Amino acid sequence: MDIRFERHKNFITHQECDELNAWVDKGVANKWLDVGISRGNHNYSKRVTSRLYANRYEYPEIVRSISFRIREFCGISSYKLIEGHGRDGVVVSCTFPGGDVYEHQDPRSKMGLSALRCNLLTRAADSGGVLRLNGEAKSLEIGELHCYLASEHLHTVSEVIGNTSRVLWMFGAYVPKEDWDDGLIKFGI
Ligand SMILES: [Fe+2]
Repeated sequence: MDIRFERHKNFITHQECDELNAWVDKGVANKWLDVGISRGNHNYSKRVTSRLYANRYEYPEIVRSISFRIREFCGISSYKLIEGHGRDGVVVSCTFPGGDVYEHQDPRSKMGLSALRCNLLTRAADSGGVLRLNGEAKSLEIGELHCYLASEHLHTVSEVIGNTSRVLWMFGAYVPKEDWDDGLIKFGI
């Protein structure tokens, strides 16, 4: 079965990426992002995330404005934010060299809606750090928006190699699976 995977290059500028990365670096130093989970280890320090620590920070205005732009562009403005993770429906993760993301699916909403993640890579690893969706590698550019149902398909990121951390911002909404799969949600209009 083909997985609906939508992408749009240069959704944000490199300058915006720099601004977002600067917030992440500050957030790592201040523990606004903290240990993630990997393969049952709840203290995984090779990838830190804002997912569980929403009470420690507020996102800067640029995050809310990009979230708004994404929801408009992806045709999901009327759908509910993915709350309960991160803040304002947004999660950011920073994976250090040697870290990865184990293969998993995101949780659905309590009502059983699918999690449509609309993600932006703002800093790439020197090498590695490759997203695989149901085993298929997706090479991504900085500032490229990419969207898929993260609750319905297995995804993983290979080990980050080199000296640069990989930063991924996750936006999106809870949606009925068929609204995405059948094209009711139109991308890029
Ligand atoms: Fe995920």
